[in-house]
Amino acid sequence: MSIFYELHKDIPREGPGNNETTRNAYQLIEKFVSKPSILDIGCGPGMQTIELASLTDGTILATDINDNFLDVLREKVREFGLLDKVNVEKANMKDLPYSEGQFDVIWSEGAIFIIGFEKGLMEWKKYLKENGILVVSELSWLKENAPKKPLEFWQNAYPGVDSIEGNRKKAESLGYEVINTLVLPESGWWDHYYTPLEERVSLYQEKYQHDQEALKTLAEFQTEIDLYRNYAEYYGYVFYLLNKNS
Ligand SMILES: C[S@@+](CC[C@H](N)C(=O)[O-])C[C@H]1O[C@@H](n2cnc3c(N)ncnc32)[C@H](O)[C@@H]1O
Repeated sequence: MSIFYELHKDIPREGPGNNETTRNAYQLIEKFVSKPSILDIGCGPGMQTIELASLTDGTILATDINDNFLDVLREKVREFGLLDKVNVEKANMKDLPYSEGQFDVIWSEGAIFIIGFEKGLMEWKKYLKENGILVVSELSWLKENAPKKPLEFWQNAYPGVDSIEGNRKKAESLGYEVINTLVLPESGWWDHYYTPLEERVSLYQEKYQHDQEALKTLAEFQTEIDLYRNYAEYYGYVFYLLNKNS
């Protein structure tokens, strides 16, 4: 098992997020849909999938490329008695096997960076019905003039990071109306993601003390976590609630 997967295995989420923000975002789009068919892209272990299932009177198709995460979610779906509401399926977000206009809502928390914000907006649009809704969360600059450390880190790790205004403009130019944007609170980074990850990092530094490659990976995770601890006011996850209008 790779150290990356070992670190991430069985933590509640695979990226920043929390149920409160999933709920707030869903409540803001609820009036636009009725009994929606929802596609959840990059669902991971599915914390947002289960929360969405509790909110919607529609159905959810939860997709990811990782079989282990899909199995974790299948188990939760059984446990919560959601078999009639939630389907779990392997699908590659870069080549989705779905029909044009199949979904009322596409939902993707912390995963669009894998295909890229603009590319995801462009490619996923065809799977939405006319006036369908796209909700994605994406790492974004919250303030101008970020200090050198976070700027350099993210330019290297994910050069696609833009401001909220920049992403709004991209969405509008790609034929979406921006319904709203929501910033994930800082607790949404810690509670289900960085706190459990950081506990593991320190545990594994002990376990892998003679494995230089593993120690390097662990140090990289710790750098990312410390960066957020020090510069959370400058960047965050932002939910973009978009209405397909052309
Ligand atoms: C940062 S995690 C977010 C997971 C989940 N939405 C959450 O917030 O906890 C990104 C997810 O995208 C999945 N993923 C990576 N590449 C993918 C691809 N090409 N197609 C579909 N899913 C992919 C990963 O397996 C992972 O579960």
